[in-house]
Amino acid sequence: MTTTTAVDDYVEFCAFLRQVTGIDLSQYKRPQMERRLRSFYANKGMQSLTEPFDRIRNDPAHLDELLDRITINVSQLWRNPEQWDIIRKTLLPELAQSGQLRAWSAGSSYGAEAYTLATLCHIVCPTRRVTIQGTDIDKRMVARARLGLFSVEDARSAPADLLEMGFEAIDGGWRAKLELRKMTRFDVGDLLRVQPRPGSYDLILCRNTVIYFSEPIRDELHTRLASALRPGGYLVVGSTERVSQPTQLGLTTNQPFIYRKA
Ligand SMILES: C[S@@+](CC[C@H](N)C(=O)[O-])C[C@H]1O[C@@H](n2cnc3c(N)ncnc32)[C@H](O)[C@@H]1O
Repeated sequence: MTTTTAVDDYVEFCAFLRQVTGIDLSQYKRPQMERRLRSFYANKGMQSLTEPFDRIRNDPAHLDELLDRITINVSQLWRNPEQWDIIRKTLLPELAQSGQLRAWSAGSSYGAEAYTLATLCHIVCPTRRVTIQGTDIDKRMVARARLGLFSVEDARSAPADLLEMGFEAIDGGWRAKLELRKMTRFDVGDLLRVQPRPGSYDLILCRNTVIYFSEPIRDELHTRLASALRPGGYLVVGSTERVSQPTQLGLTTNQPFIYRKA
């Protein structure tokens, strides 16, 4: 009698990628991620996910293309404008009443979210000391975010008057003004591992980043984010996302995507 061992090439791929890049795909929702990877490689004529290992190791352009496929860096200035309206009109005036304002864009991609927030802080509380930390697992996006450069397309949802208060028009797009760049700081960081200091932020934006995480991993991250807020601080999630047990995390909510730490 012969026995066959099913080789799970997806599991092998995750272990390999973690070794090469530090990104741990085993914590993400498998069906969606596997579908993305299989179609990506099928288009290149590869049927097994172990076939591209050499290419991933030796071809930086290929690794870039793969990371674009995996990390989904889509963003834009004033993404979901209705959320920014609430942040500008309600959250920031309240948060500005106490001293320094410390914010975190968790999964900041190329910085559009952090610079949108910086513009609004510049408008709403120009005399407050504001620090906005952006972190992302993709170091290419972190390098881009530090430049503060955005295309015309990136600014498509931005209200023209507010945009001009934070950005100067340059050839082909917009550049964040110096005062915004002074408020922001971008670092590579993995949300699956980060352990922020309890009570260290007034405002955390974690939008459109956990959608591919498995539910237990997402919930565990929300627990850490809630703990990182000071009492009275806010967590803003994406407009289609939610925190599953907010009261257990000491959060209250009267808007679908905004949570306040009690
Ligand atoms: C769709 S973008 C969202 C950007 C921005 N928050 C927004 O709403 O426009 C998702 C970002 O999450 C980042 N990301 C994915 N997994 C991550 C992880 N484990 N740790 C940190 N960032 C991660 C990706 O690299 C990507 O830039």
